Amino acid sequence: MALVTSTEMFKKAYDGGYAIGAFNVNNMEIVQGITEACREEKAPVILQVSKGARAYANHTYLVKLVEAAVIECPEIPIVLHLDHGPDFETCKSCIDGGFTSVMIDASSKPFAENIEITKKVVEYAHDHGVVVEAELGTLAGIEDDVKVAAHAASYTRPEEVEEFVSKTGCDSLAIAIGTSHGAYKFTAAQCTRNEKGILVPPPLRFDVLEEVSRRLPGFPIVLHGSSSVPQNYVKMINDNGGKMPDAVGIPEEQLRHAAELSVCKINIDSDLRLAMTGTVRQFFNEHPDKFDPREYLKPARANIKELVRHKLVDVLGCAGKA
Ligand code: G3H
Ligand code: 13P
Ligand code: ZN
Repeated sequence: MALVTSTEMFKKAYDGGYAIGAFNVNNMEIVQGITEACREEKAPVILQVSKGARAYANHTYLVKLVEAAVIECPEIPIVLHLDHGPDFETCKSCIDGGFTSVMIDASSKPFAENIEITKKVVEYAHDHGVVVEAELGTLAGIEDDVKVAAHAASYTRPEEVEEFVSKTGCDSLAIAIGTSHGAYKFTAAQCTRNEKGILVPPPLRFDVLEEVSRRLPGFPIVLHGSSSVPQNYVKMINDNGGKMPDAVGIPEEQLRHAAELSVCKINIDSDLRLAMTGTVRQFFNEHPDKFDPREYLKPARANIKELVRHKLVDVLGCAGKA
């Protein structure tokens, strides 16, 4: 199967009460870990590339790695998506360069300007058979080189979504309901602690999601910043020389619930980074004499694969849907 757009995927996900996993890719081992899990679990998948990933690995290398995954996994549909496209030029470069989906993220701009930029990207993308994700509302956390403090974040205003979608023609909409980018999604002050002393974050704003869905029936909604920050990997990092106190993510039951509603795409990046870093740190601690990258990247890739399998089966609900 060639690369596909997310149109069909989202329709099935919406109707079926599950979400597609959108995983960020930066190198070969990450692409392999994700797609091997998706292949084995027969899950459709979105592989997404950020501006930072293109700067790190180079556009062509990433496209060719994803094309290799398409050849190796012919049974599953794969989307190649630009994550957080910062401007028209970046989106155009990805549309011209083989992507099947782009995000234009003008969410930090005033409403009218967000509409104007998004509409321009949609027109170009649709002319080239590419779909567009846009964003309304501002998430906290770090994405690429942009850092948004918790107090500067703002929930999506449901009363704006119909005008935004009808004026821009976007194909899916990322909204802010309390998720956040990175491994430190909430400050300790925003959380409570459970009996084990683990931070419990404030619940997602399902009221905002439900009101958005009521106003946009059948329309695919996207959640960014949806890593759960698995505490076993935080511990693995901290037990092996790392220092990540109080890293906390979105509880998986809440993501599962969102996937049953109108959320069709759930973005996960930080969890993969934690799995990879924890595994490599532990490997070096246990084998200080080793220096062959294949020896430490192999278990890192295997742990990414198992983490993705868990997300597909237990969180997203998209296993068996390819
Ligand atoms: O939302 C941002 C993604 O996690 C990508 O992160 O800009 O470090 O590649 P990055
Ligand atoms: P996390 O940092 O929660 O993994 O979010 C990733 C993301 O939203 C990519 O766009
Ligand atoms: Zn994001």
